[in-house]
Amino acid sequence: MTKIAITGASGHYGQLATDKLIAQGRAEDLILMTRTPAKLAHRAAQGCVVRYGDYDHPESLGPAFAGADRLLLISGTRVGARVAQHKAAIDAAASMAVAHILYTSFIGIDDPANPAEVRHDHIETEKLIRASGMAWTMLRDAHYADAMIVMAGPAVMQAGAWFSNAGDGYEAMVWREDCVDCAVAVLTGSGHDGQIYNITGPDRQNFAQVAALMAEVTGVPLAYVPLEDDAQYAMFDAMGIPRRPVDDQSINGIPWNSDDMVTFGQAIREGFLDICTKDVERLTGRPARSVRQMIEANAEMLKAAAVPDQVSA
Ligand SMILES: NC(=O)c1ccc[n+]([C@@H]2O[C@H](COP(=O)([O-])OP(=O)(O)OC[C@H]3O[C@@H](n4cnc5c(N)ncnc54)[C@H](OP(=O)(O)O)[C@@H]3O)[C@@H](O)[C@H]2O)c1
Repeated sequence: MTKIAITGASGHYGQLATDKLIAQGRAEDLILMTRTPAKLAHRAAQGCVVRYGDYDHPESLGPAFAGADRLLLISGTRVGARVAQHKAAIDAAASMAVAHILYTSFIGIDDPANPAEVRHDHIETEKLIRASGMAWTMLRDAHYADAMIVMAGPAVMQAGAWFSNAGDGYEAMVWREDCVDCAVAVLTGSGHDGQIYNITGPDRQNFAQVAALMAEVTGVPLAYVPLEDDAQYAMFDAMGIPRRPVDDQSINGIPWNSDDMVTFGQAIREGFLDICTKDVERLTGRPARSVRQMIEANAEMLKAAAVPDQVSA
C-alpha cells in the first residue's frame, strides 16, 4: 500500500486527516511528523509510524519522510515567513524520492495585487513544489469557516458585534473538515497529478450576511461593524495579538498575528477571495457544507458565549 507522510500531524488539520485515514484502515501506512513525538504516542499505539521532524532543522526532514510515497505538506504556522520552512520540507521529500506531494495552499493567490500576507508564502511554496520534480497537487483552501464561527465566534457573541476591515467583500468560507476530506480523497485516489483545486464552501457571503445568519440562528442580535485597517490593527493590539507570528503561541485559543489578519481582511474587501467552486463535491462526491450548517452545529456554544440578557431564544 502507498505510504503517506503527514507534516503538522498534531495540529487541527493533521489530526482530522489522520483520524479519517485510520478510519479507512490505513494506520499502518501513515508516517506522522512532529517536533514532539510524545504528543503523538497515541498514534503510535494505533499503528502509525511517528517520527521527529522540524522545518527549522532541515536535516531532520529526510529521515522523517523515509519510505513515504506521498506527502501531505500541511503549511506551517509562521505566516509571512514560511517559505524557508516549506523549502526544507520539499527538498527533503524530493531527495527521499517521495513520488507525489500535496500542499495545503490558499485560494486567490495568482494575482500579485492580492495584499494578503499569506499569498507570498503560498505562491512561492507552490513554485518550489512545481520545480521539485515530484508529482504535485495544490489544495487551495478557502478561509476556514471554523476560524470565524468556532474560534472568533464566541468573542463576536460576547461583544454583540462583528468588527472587521473586510468591508462588504465576499468569500465562500469552507469547513476545515471538508478541506481535509478533499485531501484524503487525493491522498488515497489517483488522477490528481498537476491539479489545482479551489476548495471552497457552497455560498458567497460577506461578513454582514454571516453575522445576520449567526443572529438568526442564535436569536442574539448582532451588528456588523466595518473597520478601517488602522482601527482593526488597534483592536488586535488591544487584545495583545502580536503583529508578527510567534511560534506556538495563541491568544484566546487562536494562533493569529495581526499583519496576517489585517491584510487578509483587505484581500476579502478587495474581492481577491471571492471564489466559489464545486471542487469539494468533485473530490468527495458530496456537496460542501455551508456556513449556516456550521453556525447551527455550534448554536449552543455561541449562545452560551453571549451576554445572558441578549439571548432572546
Ligand atoms: N484557510 C484558512 O482559513 C486557514 C486558517 C487557519 C490555518 N490555515 C492553514 O492550515 C495550517 C494548519 O492549521 P492547523 O489549524 O492544523 O494548525 P495548528 O493546529 O496550529 O497546528 C500547527 C502544526 O504545525 C506544526 N509545526 C509548527 N511549527 C513546526 C515546525 N517548525 N516544524 C514542523 N512542524 C511544525 C505543529 O506540529 P508539532 O507542534 O507537533 O511539531 C502542528 O502540528 C496552518 O498552518 C495554515 O497554513 C488555514
